[in-house]
Amino acid sequence: MKPSELQRDNAQYLWHPMAHPRAMKAEGGRPDIIARGEGCWVWDVDGHKMLDGVAGLWSSNLGHSCRPVRDAIVAQLDELPFFNTFRGTTHPRAIELSARVVDMMAPDGVAAVMFSNGGSDAVEGALKIARQFHKLRGQKDRSKFIALKQGYHGVHFGGMSVNGNTNFRRAYEPLLPGCFHLDSPWAYRNPWGLEGEALGQAVAQALERELVFQGPDTVAAFIAEPVQGAGGVIVPPANFWPLVREVCTRHGVLLIADEVVTGFGRTGQMFGTRTWGVQADLWCLAKGISSGYVPLGATAISRRVAEVFDADTTGAGQVTHGYTYSAHPVAAAAALATLDMLERDDIPARVREVGGPFQARLGGLVDRVPYVGNVRGIGLMAGIEMVADKATKAPLPKTSDLPARVAREAYRRGLMTRVSGSMMILSPPLVISPQELDFLCSTLEAAFDAVAT
Ligand SMILES: Cc1ncc(COP(=O)(O)O)c(C=O)c1O
Repeated sequence: MKPSELQRDNAQYLWHPMAHPRAMKAEGGRPDIIARGEGCWVWDVDGHKMLDGVAGLWSSNLGHSCRPVRDAIVAQLDELPFFNTFRGTTHPRAIELSARVVDMMAPDGVAAVMFSNGGSDAVEGALKIARQFHKLRGQKDRSKFIALKQGYHGVHFGGMSVNGNTNFRRAYEPLLPGCFHLDSPWAYRNPWGLEGEALGQAVAQALERELVFQGPDTVAAFIAEPVQGAGGVIVPPANFWPLVREVCTRHGVLLIADEVVTGFGRTGQMFGTRTWGVQADLWCLAKGISSGYVPLGATAISRRVAEVFDADTTGAGQVTHGYTYSAHPVAAAAALATLDMLERDDIPARVREVGGPFQARLGGLVDRVPYVGNVRGIGLMAGIEMVADKATKAPLPKTSDLPARVAREAYRRGLMTRVSGSMMILSPPLVISPQELDFLCSTLEAAFDAVAT
């Protein structure tokens, strides 16, 4: 098909996630049609080459042409393209991958893993297991969930209900009852005007107050991302997660770490919770687990939670949850090869090495660009917040096309970025070289230089 025909059919037939169907039909509503990928680079359908500054969507951590992952997928297609893992059925790749994930996460206290198809699924599994855990222990009233504003936990009804951004909620309300949200540990904007340890402490105290207010015996879990990604790359102060862990333990509330973005190296540690030196009770994993080659999600279950299910003799511990494609053999094969690469090349160490200079260089945009108010990030995830007034931190009007104009300029110059509201979000493949990162930063600087308010 010719590019113009693809564009026409896209507008007519394809509804995009997070977009109005009319947007593609409107004048100038041309989507970026990405046709090919190699290493950290992608080409659009017109043959325009760009550095992939977003790793597909925080996913393609090993880049777009990782031969061992590709070979594992092809071999699996030849051996067994699909079989299910319901009840008494399984297959070798599912078993091998479960052992592999548990082995990798043994230092974090993980005992078992349940597979699914993506991040929203992984969250749903964690929320359901949390409620069931409490029921098995005779604490039947523990059904509520507490989460953070700006949090993103996918789009299923459970995940959407703990989602901390009303944009993702309004059209589908009413949502799950019993979900509550706290102000997040966001240094640039928080109601207390705090930063650092004082901010971490304030949010942990707010969590404890909310637990006491709700009645801790009614709360199943607190869920959060180790670093909030889609909500604006909000890196919490170092004391936040340890304090939250203490509060949850004190009140018998499970701690769910949504590691869909942070898992498998993005922060410079294999898991985001390791970045903060804490163990969760349940972990939501997806994206980087298979480097985006084939959809896969996983909910990792701590020893503490697994033991309760193992001890049940009443039948109530049966996990009445799962998907036709849970642990799909091709996805499991892709994940096994991905994890091999992550460990063989110690990708988290590489992220630590390049992440510091990357963050420092992007940080320079605050002084360089009149409308960049804040740059934040860790490892290879970064967010650039554009504002109407730097001195007052006044946000851009919702209708502002400034972020889109910067992204367009970057695209034209050979860099794929992602805009979310007033944020430009960057999450390049974790295998990106220092030279490619240099290209990313200089292209971005040039794009910002070229766009005036
Ligand atoms: C932290 C987090 N949780 C859950 C999800 C949902 O994942 P998926 O889009 O694979 O369903 C995402 C997606 O970006 C995410 O960032």
